[in-house]
Amino acid sequence: MRRATYRGAPPPNGSETATARVHTPGMAGCCDPRGCDGVFGNRFARRVASRYRKRGLGGTEQRIVDFLVARDIMGASVLEIGGGVGELHLELLRRGAARATNLELVAAYDAAANELSSEAGVGDRITRRILDIAATPGQVEPADVVVMHRVVCCYPDFERLLGAAADHARRLLVFSHPPRNAASRLVLAAQNTAFRVSGKTFRTFAHPPGQMLAVLGAYGLSPVYAHQGLVWRVAGLERTSA
Ligand SMILES: C[S@@+](CC[C@H](N)C(=O)[O-])C[C@H]1O[C@@H](n2cnc3c(N)ncnc32)[C@H](O)[C@@H]1O
Repeated sequence: MRRATYRGAPPPNGSETATARVHTPGMAGCCDPRGCDGVFGNRFARRVASRYRKRGLGGTEQRIVDFLVARDIMGASVLEIGGGVGELHLELLRRGAARATNLELVAAYDAAANELSSEAGVGDRITRRILDIAATPGQVEPADVVVMHRVVCCYPDFERLLGAAADHARRLLVFSHPPRNAASRLVLAAQNTAFRVSGKTFRTFAHPPGQMLAVLGAYGLSPVYAHQGLVWRVAGLERTSA
């Protein structure tokens, strides 16, 4: 198994901040946003945060939290990749996790995320970074638990992203992804056409589920949970070898 080493080097200037501190827009320039900055802006962030305030977690998010809580996250460190406004790691902190790091390609979520974490009283246990773990895996510390919800479908190179994620998961990794069937491919193709027509570089992907699990398996993670939702599939994996 390949393992990335955490070099312990300080992150690039301004790329790491506790939630008490807010990124300036310039900080988003520290990694390639891969078109996400044209799609996931302040409005998207506010909408997700407001829905979470009103209704709490959605069904898929709740499944992810339940999977992890059932496997004991007391005192665990959490690494959420592409965590948006952070409602998943907020819930995990409420349920016993010790601390969380969120990696994002865009800074647009930070204001809403900081508000939510302050309201929950856990802001001092969260670090938000603008960083692409697939591009610079050595700049991220491993965690007990790695979470990726609605993220791998936004990234073209799933092998690199999932490989880096798995390499940073000491115990558990859980991720969601769209199914890869005729219907989902049609929907994604329509979305991508709309993005192309409107001049956006962002694209969505329905990566092959078997190949995604195979990448994680090569890093010592075995599937222990699967939910086959219509729109989102959830896969939970546990480390079975170093
Ligand atoms: C569809 S949004 C989902 C955000 C959040 N997880 C949610 O469900 O509301 C996907 C997010 O993943 C982030 N993302 C994609 N690839 C990433 C990577 N390699 N590292 C960090 N974040 C990434 C994007 O910036 C984007 O905000």
